[in-house]
Amino acid sequence: MLRPFALPLGMCWLLAMLVAVPSPLSAQPGQTGISLGSAWYPEQWPESRWDADLELMEKAHMNVVRVGEFAWSTEEPSEGHYDFGWLERAIALAAKHHIAVVLATPTDAPPAWLTSKYPDTLGTDADGHRREHGNRRQFSYSSPQYRSFCREIVAQLARRFGHNPNVIGWQIDNEYTDESFDAATRVQFQQFLRAKYKTLDNLNRHWATAYWSQTYTAWDQIPMESTHGNPGLLLDHKHFVTQMWRSFQQNQIDVLRPLILPTQFITTNIGGLAWSDNWDHYRITEDLSLASWDDYVGQGHLNVARNAMLNDFVRGWKRQNFWIMETEPGSVNWAPVNNALDRGETRALAWQTVGHGADAVLYWQWRSALGGQEQYHGAIVGPDGTPLPIYTEIEQLGKDFAAANPALKGTSPKSDVAMLFTYDSRWAIDFQQHSKLYDQQQVLLDFYSPLESIAQSVDVVEATAPLDSYKLVVAPSLNVIPQALADHLLAYVRAGGHLILGPRSGMKDEYNALNTERQPGPLVPALGGRVEQYYALEGSIPVGDGTALIWAEQLSASNPATTVELRYGKSNGWLDGQPAMLTRALGKGSITYLGTLPDAALMHSLMETAATNAGVHAAFGPVPAEVEVCRRVGRDRVVYIVINHGRSPAHVNFPGRMHDALTNKDLTTVELPAQGVAVLVAEGR
Ligand code: GLA
Repeated sequence: MLRPFALPLGMCWLLAMLVAVPSPLSAQPGQTGISLGSAWYPEQWPESRWDADLELMEKAHMNVVRVGEFAWSTEEPSEGHYDFGWLERAIALAAKHHIAVVLATPTDAPPAWLTSKYPDTLGTDADGHRREHGNRRQFSYSSPQYRSFCREIVAQLARRFGHNPNVIGWQIDNEYTDESFDAATRVQFQQFLRAKYKTLDNLNRHWATAYWSQTYTAWDQIPMESTHGNPGLLLDHKHFVTQMWRSFQQNQIDVLRPLILPTQFITTNIGGLAWSDNWDHYRITEDLSLASWDDYVGQGHLNVARNAMLNDFVRGWKRQNFWIMETEPGSVNWAPVNNALDRGETRALAWQTVGHGADAVLYWQWRSALGGQEQYHGAIVGPDGTPLPIYTEIEQLGKDFAAANPALKGTSPKSDVAMLFTYDSRWAIDFQQHSKLYDQQQVLLDFYSPLESIAQSVDVVEATAPLDSYKLVVAPSLNVIPQALADHLLAYVRAGGHLILGPRSGMKDEYNALNTERQPGPLVPALGGRVEQYYALEGSIPVGDGTALIWAEQLSASNPATTVELRYGKSNGWLDGQPAMLTRALGKGSITYLGTLPDAALMHSLMETAATNAGVHAAFGPVPAEVEVCRRVGRDRVVYIVINHGRSPAHVNFPGRMHDALTNKDLTTVELPAQGVAVLVAEGR
């Protein structure tokens, strides 16, 4: 509940500002508010230039830099000969400018002396081609020899900088990406399977290898496939890749932890626009103190709903605030058309990430290297070392953060609605998509967009996460539902939760085999209904008052307590008049199965009904269409970040009087310019 202030809001805020002493960055992310910074590569520039760079950063209110990624050949110019003096001086100079350092391990880019002397450290692509020097990520993630070199360089760095007070955290490697398909990795895959299945009989049974004479009689017969092949094998390969990257990472954590200050965090910057599916992001981030990711727009402009969802998805990895370790200063170099974001859009994007739980925003990169593969990428200063036009917008953001930090510190988003995700389900569907139109990010977004506009805050979490704090839980495509997950979901429902399962749910077991109960598998008895048949749609078909797209499942109810909420109209004969959505009250809650992807208007009305039934309300209240409201909640305050993503001004009425931390005014309403932002503070919860 918001409560009226005893003092005028502005005065309270003035007091808060006065007592908020400008402090160095805390190693506990978020404790001092939001940090601003960039990736900085001092090794690419003469030392005489560094002070000017840091001066410009400080002027833009930046307080963090990430250094050291890809610097291995400078840190260890020849085997066993280390040179960290330059790094020590760079960190000290940053401290002089009140800029803290995230130190990255350089293992994404092994030096030429290493890969040429020890070629077994090189990775092999899926087509059998051994990688070469000249790019990055050429190493084999499973090579024991490479991992031993990683341990040594990381130990050297940790001994030198693990107690440096200006180093606040560590980033391991960079955007884990390429697995390796060399013979030694395949042996490790076979050992992984042996440890999991114990006997070949067991593996053959779960993978149904009698099909196409795939039965294995020796472990070394098992191939390593990543795209086409037995569905059980493909899923296990994903688990293997996850385990390999996890142990690659752990190899460095094990070296770092005993040598560094306990206050220094350990993270890795996750790439693939958060959506890459090479490995399970929940498992990788489990071992880190902090999740961070690289949020780029690429071609076009900010897709507001998608970027909101992806930031919520990232927040769900560890179910805590996170860092934007990289984002674009206006443009990238890797999209088909590398257009620039409009003036104001870079700032709006940054504020959106903060609204969804980012505690730091770092730009990639400060200044483009004069050579190297990324000469065209957006930067903050030009090749001459003076500010590019985007500098002023980032400087504005620095001022914003400084003004809003007393309010934002210690806050994080809080939601009554959760969407569920598992990598097993994602993989199982994508191995056999059945309709190329079934794009899982879009399906997630189809459910997310109405929920986000209705509740103004949505969590996206792993399906096994604790659910008791949520009023409404929606699982768009939970394809793999093992018994334990079914039990977890049912416990939530019985205790009063409202669960909506989307199409394709409950088709597979944990070995990616078809379950024999039909969908939704172990939840059939609880639902009192099931899927009779699924259909990939060529076009749209009628359902309820709207249309269904891409996918339609013919449902049936077998329990008198199960009601049909939606039916298909006339379409392929099989679906005509058949149930498209079932629901059943169970325990203190309810379970619903929606077997299709309704058009946006129908989806909105279904989600609105579900939200109302579950007691979910908008956190802030109605806002104009192009305005986004995000909420961060602290112990004694609620902060609303209100962003006008539109290209014309928008008028926003507040649910009560609030203090805008950016303009330092008490307001009940605001006229936001195009791309404008307000950070509204209300005391109480
Ligand atoms: C990734 C990498 C960076 C850089 C950027 C360019 O995020 O981590 O090193 O290559 O892409 O957008």
